[in-house]
Amino acid sequence: MSQSDPWLPLESPRLLLRDWRDEDLPAFAALNADPRVMAFLPARLDRAQSDALAARIRAQIRERGFGWWALEVAGVAPFVGFVGLSVPQFQAHFTPCVEISWRLAAEHWGRGYATEAARLALTYGFDRLGLSEIVSFTTRANQRSRAVMARLGLRHDPADDFDHPSLPPGHPLRPHVLYRASPRDRPAR
Ligand SMILES: CC(C)(COP(=O)(O)OP(=O)(O)OC[C@H]1O[C@@H](n2cnc3c(N)ncnc32)[C@H](O)[C@@H]1OP(=O)(O)O)[C@@H](O)C(=O)NCCC(=O)NCCS
Repeated sequence: MSQSDPWLPLESPRLLLRDWRDEDLPAFAALNADPRVMAFLPARLDRAQSDALAARIRAQIRERGFGWWALEVAGVAPFVGFVGLSVPQFQAHFTPCVEISWRLAAEHWGRGYATEAARLALTYGFDRLGLSEIVSFTTRANQRSRAVMARLGLRHDPADDFDHPSLPPGHPLRPHVLYRASPRDRPAR
């Protein structure tokens, strides 16, 4: 995370989207091993895989100045998961693009943290980065993630739905939905 960016870290009264710390890694590994959290992702991760993912996330934040930030909840937990912006590396009809994503430990679901943190990240993307669009996608059956997209006001056009190119034909997670946000959907700061 660029220390010279006065916008960072992103904050609301109860949330902090911040750069990662080594202390986050055990909690990140726990959520990446949880079948509830990983139900709509291709595979659960072991500790080494989780640490490797965290290292890639941290490198992306260093390189781009933004990424999947660690999410802290004041007075609740120093690390509940991540929310943030990334640049998908696969090719599809909507790429190149910037995507907003989230992954929280299951014990912290149902409190509005993902939606509230995503609002911070959307505002950063539109107002700080000057993006003209931010997308979000997930496998069709991931209703919790789709509910976050809907709460944020992202728009879903079924004509945008796509098969994720990283998953083989016939894989149950392959059919994906795409939601889009533009600056006019930007939440108030
Ligand atoms: C997707 C995910 C982040 C959604 O988490 P979530 O807790 O359902 O979403 P939010 O944080 O926005 O919380 C919304 C819920 O909190 C409730 N809530 C409680 N207090 C609230 C508050 N102060 N403000 C807003 N909502 C509040 C809402 O009513 C809603 O409840 P509901 O689910 O019963 O309708 C989570 O399920 C997850 O991490 N899943 C695994 C990873 C994943 O699939 N990621 C996407 C892959 S592409």
